[in-house]
Amino acid sequence: MMKKGKLKYRGAKRGLAVCIGASMSAMLVCGCETQQSVAENKVHVGVTYYNQSDTFLNELLECFEEDLKAYQKGGIETTVTIRDAAGAQRTQNDQVEELIDAGCDVLCVNLVDRADPSEIIDLARDHDVPIVFFNREPVAEDLLQWDKLYYVGADADQSGVFQGELASELIKNDAETDKNGDGRIQYVILEGEAGHQDAIIRTENAVETMKNNGVQLEKLSYQIANWNRAQAQNRMQQLIAQYGDGIELVLANNDDMALGAVDAYEKSGFPKEEYPAFFGIDGTNVGLQAVVDGSFSGTVYNDKEGQAAAMAELAVALATHDGLQNMEFERGKYIYLPYEKITVENVEDFLSETEPGS
Ligand code: BGC
Repeated sequence: MMKKGKLKYRGAKRGLAVCIGASMSAMLVCGCETQQSVAENKVHVGVTYYNQSDTFLNELLECFEEDLKAYQKGGIETTVTIRDAAGAQRTQNDQVEELIDAGCDVLCVNLVDRADPSEIIDLARDHDVPIVFFNREPVAEDLLQWDKLYYVGADADQSGVFQGELASELIKNDAETDKNGDGRIQYVILEGEAGHQDAIIRTENAVETMKNNGVQLEKLSYQIANWNRAQAQNRMQQLIAQYGDGIELVLANNDDMALGAVDAYEKSGFPKEEYPAFFGIDGTNVGLQAVVDGSFSGTVYNDKEGQAAAMAELAVALATHDGLQNMEFERGKYIYLPYEKITVENVEDFLSETEPGS
C-alpha cells in the first residue's frame, strides 16, 4: 500500500518545476525592491470545493498546498484556508462571503453547481477579489462576466479519447477480452455527475473512439454513480445481477467508480478470469495501485500536480499583481493541462521511488 507523501509522481516533478520557476521569478523581482516590500508580500488564498469526499480533489488540493508553501522560499508568505461546500451551492456562496470577509486576496473555487456561479462572481467583483475556478468548469458566458475570472482544468475530450484508445488496444491485442467470442464487446459505462463537463464528454469520446477504431460494441447499460466508489459498487452489483457473466468491459468516468466496479466483482464470487476489463480516469494513488496490481487494464492521468501548480502560480500572480505576463492562457482565461495514458507498461513512471530517509 502506498503511503501518502512518500511518493512523487511524474507530474509532481513537472509541477515543482513550474513552482520553483515562479518562486525564482518572484525572487528576482523582489531582489530589486526594498526589504520592506518583500515582507509585505503576503498572499491569503481562500479555497472552497464541492465535496470533501472526492478522492481526486483531495489529492489535487494536497499538491496545491505544497505548491503554495514553496513560494515562501521566494519571499512570498502564503496562507490558505480551505472550505468544504458539502454538495450545497448555498453553503458555498456563504463560504465565499466568509473567505472574502477574512481578507482573502484571491479565491480558488471548485463550484458545486457549475451552472450557478453568479452570486459568487458578484461577491468577488464587489470586493475586487479575483477568482480561479478549477476542475468544474463554468459555462463560457459566466467566465466573461468579469476580467478577473480564470479557469484551470484539463481537456475533457482528450481523456475520453485516451480511454477509448486504451480499451481498443486491449481488445485488439487480447482476444480473451471478448469473453463469449461473439465478435462484439458487451460494455457498461459508469458515469460521473449529470451536468459535469467531464462526465458526458468522457463517455461520448471513449465510445466514439472505440467505434472509429473498428471495435464492434454492444451497449448494455449506462449508469450514473456521481464519481463515487460506493455508488458505483452498488450500480455494478445491480448490473451483475442483471447480466451475470455477460459484461466484458467496464468504462468508468473516473478511477473511484472503476474501483467500485471491481469491488462489486470481488463481492460477486466470480472467478477473476471471468471479470471484465476495467478502465478508469485520474491516476489517483489508489487508481495507480489498481493498474500496478492488474485490477485495471488502464487509466488516464488527470494531471493533478500540473493543475495544482498552475492554480498556485495564477493565484500568487493575481494577488501580487506580478507574473501574469509570464503565463499562457487559452482565450485569455483558461489553462488546460494535458492527460496521459497509463497501463502496466508505464505506470512506474507515474510512481517514483520512496524518497530516501522518508
Ligand atoms: C475527476 C473526478 C472528480 C471530479 C470532481 C473529475 O475531473 O476525474 O475524479 O470526482 O472531477 O469534479
